[in-house]
Amino acid sequence: MNQSFENIGNIGGMVLNEPIGGLVIGDAEFETIRHLIYEQFGINLTEQKRSLVAGRLQKMIRGMGFTRFSEYLAHLETDASKQSLRDLINRISTNHTFFFRETAHFDYFCQTVLPELTGRLKQRNARDLRIWSAGCSSGEEAYTLVMLMKEFFGMDYGQWDAGLLATDISTDALATALNGIYPEERTSMIPSNFKSRYFKKISEDRWAVDPALKREIIFRRFNLMTKTFPFKQPFHVIFCRNVMIYFDQPTREALVQRFFEFTAPGGYLFIGHSESLRRDACPYDYVMPAVYRKRGE
Ligand SMILES: C[S@@+](CC[C@H](N)C(=O)[O-])C[C@H]1O[C@@H](n2cnc3c(N)ncnc32)[C@H](O)[C@@H]1O
Repeated sequence: MNQSFENIGNIGGMVLNEPIGGLVIGDAEFETIRHLIYEQFGINLTEQKRSLVAGRLQKMIRGMGFTRFSEYLAHLETDASKQSLRDLINRISTNHTFFFRETAHFDYFCQTVLPELTGRLKQRNARDLRIWSAGCSSGEEAYTLVMLMKEFFGMDYGQWDAGLLATDISTDALATALNGIYPEERTSMIPSNFKSRYFKKISEDRWAVDPALKREIIFRRFNLMTKTFPFKQPFHVIFCRNVMIYFDQPTREALVQRFFEFTAPGGYLFIGHSESLRRDACPYDYVMPAVYRKRGE
């Protein structure tokens, strides 16, 4: 029997394995990938994701010259450079995002959070505002935030040390973010006044972010599963939206705890609207759906 197909079966109408492009993920192989992705990146790949995983990986695996998942897994285990692991997470992570996503958050950020935080900082003669887009994907959330901050501060922006840290695990998504060039259809959510001020049309269907805006953001690869965050100072605002949906409850709660430790007193955590934190396990105060605040000042 051809080994690649030996695990394919259909018992009681249940397809056991997925022959995609001739590549099959057997039960044990899927379990190995699942375990690896969970351990390394916190992403919880349920059984329902098996065909999605196979679909996302098969072209890459074929491109590497492997004909079986087992060969690929053996390579993953022995690749000391960890490049294969980076390529794997580039394929597995879901990077869907768009400019001005969940606009209610940005309204609250501009109308309440920024006035409150900057008012307090000014009282202390401080001018540093630290904001983190954690799980920034291809940069749309980070660029949205910086545009809004520039609008909020206006002429005073230069007097503030108000840049943004934007991190993600996917080097592909970060490359797009750093490049700052987006196809026309991905810029449709940007209000026209923002688009004319902060973007330049560089071809029939592509727009480039103003380099001055880009300079305000530090894009870095960072794994949110890192047990001890390496930051010297806490953040005033953390956006971690539509990231924790891929994590299970214990992983989410442990991450929120780490965020909390790195939130300045009186600082905020924004999560995605489809996400929620269990109140009894949440160290932050609930403000409104998907917005939390650390008690303090
Ligand atoms: C759906 S996007 C969300 C982008 C943006 N925050 C938004 O709401 O539009 C989720 C991002 O989380 C990133 N991600 C998933 N697991 C991660 C981890 N362990 N560490 C860092 N980033 C991770 C993915 O690479 C992906 O770009």
